[in-house]
Amino acid sequence: MSERTLVLIKPDGVERGLVGEVIGRIERKGLKLVEMDLRRVDRKLAEQHYAEHDGKPFFESLLEFITSGPVVAAVVEGPHAISAFRQLAGGTDPVGKAAPGSLRGDYGLEVQYNLVHGSDSVESAERELKLWFPELQA
Ligand code: CMP
Repeated sequence: MSERTLVLIKPDGVERGLVGEVIGRIERKGLKLVEMDLRRVDRKLAEQHYAEHDGKPFFESLLEFITSGPVVAAVVEGPHAISAFRQLAGGTDPVGKAAPGSLRGDYGLEVQYNLVHGSDSVESAERELKLWFPELQA
């Protein structure tokens, strides 16, 4: 079944010049880019996007990080797009969880600087796509 997911290339990925690598892997997997732009994230969007982490010890530094520089935001579509991208990304912790061969496994070292974000469920994808690409909604 075709799905849509929100993919972010976080400020560390953009800063390190890994945009082409991430997009290349998405395309070679067979997923399709529906929308994509480079943008600065304001504090309000960051708080809404990460609302489920409000109150956690890393919340404030996560907000600072995600607003610290441009990110690439993309709508990615295809069969099982949500889990397909999460497989490409690897586990949240680049060393403890992400397998070698995944984006985080190959390019990451620290959990905060983990290069990319992908929606983790159909419900999250719906919520996040509305936040980041409101113009796409019918
Ligand atoms: P992401 O998939 O974007 O969703 C939540 C983010 O919080 C996660 O990736 C990490 O970047 C970050 N995160 C999760 N756990 C920690 C932690 N213990 N310390 C700092 N950042 C974290």
